[in-house]
Amino acid sequence: MTQKKSLKTIGILTSGGDCPGMNCSIRAIVRTAIGEGIRVKGIEGGYAGIFKENIINLSISSVGNIIQRGGTILRSSRCLEFHEKSFRKKAAVILKRHGIDALVVMGGNGTFAGAHIFNQEHGIPVVGIPGTIDNDIMGTEYSIGFDTAIQTAMEAVDKIRDTAFSHNRNFLIEVMGRKSPAIALKVGVCSGAENIILNPEEEDLDQVVKDIKRGIKRGKKSSIIIVAEGEEPGLSYALQAELKEKYKIDSTVCILGHIQRGGSPTAFDRFMASKMGFMAVKALIAKNYPSVTIYKNGRVTIAPLKKCLDTKKKPKKEALELIRALSI
Ligand code: F6P
Repeated sequence: MTQKKSLKTIGILTSGGDCPGMNCSIRAIVRTAIGEGIRVKGIEGGYAGIFKENIINLSISSVGNIIQRGGTILRSSRCLEFHEKSFRKKAAVILKRHGIDALVVMGGNGTFAGAHIFNQEHGIPVVGIPGTIDNDIMGTEYSIGFDTAIQTAMEAVDKIRDTAFSHNRNFLIEVMGRKSPAIALKVGVCSGAENIILNPEEEDLDQVVKDIKRGIKRGKKSSIIIVAEGEEPGLSYALQAELKEKYKIDSTVCILGHIQRGGSPTAFDRFMASKMGFMAVKALIAKNYPSVTIYKNGRVTIAPLKKCLDTKKKPKKEALELIRALSI
């Protein structure tokens, strides 16, 4: 469904797990829209902020000095009510009352699924900006926050490597990315990990153990194994127990956790988020919605929202081959 009347006020919300770069997009949306004579309102706390009517006016100066800040000044949440049709109906009424005639939503798969059904049911124009450290959104090669998360995790692994070396220890370092091994794959390569466990619930540890033993043979006294989070955090402890019981190998678990979601965005994230925020407003003006700003073949462009809804994006596993080749 499309909307006939002209665009006067855009609402912005950030939803799901936050990520570094969201503030850069908020700034870009506000400044591009105001430059085009369009008002902007910020909805605080994701979709839940609509029901609470936590809706504020955003001005050019309210987004000053935020480009370097991690998190989201609009705050975020995972809103279960938005799964219910009656709540979405209520949300449409509230947005209308606040004069909001289009939405830009930033987040991951859940955020986009909510935006899609909301658009289908109520015709409100929506543009999504992929923002999740997991980089698991279909249809785009990049989601804002991924680069910063990789940088943070890599620096943490470098520090752990120092103490692993000093104490001759094997470390299982668990990185974030529920159901998505994208962070694990990239951090594995960038931190020179000896191995990587992509699916902690199904991994056959024989190969991992063979690799540890091969390293020991050539004089290595410590190793770094990156573990993808999988279905839930903490699965590394079961792997640690298995290594000990079945293979008599000692290891130390370190779960990096939410440190990976915070921090000042890298230059790459700042640039991508700024460009995507700018493009999102241009897409609304051009009535190119429901859509998503995507990164493809080295360019930021616009794709139909429905092409970005599938949750089965498979990360490219060439990184695994690279880790194996480089850790012999
Ligand atoms: O935002 C993505 C993500 O950080 C995943 O990598 C992780 O599994 C999940 O969110 C954690 O969510 P929460 O902070 O709600 O526990």
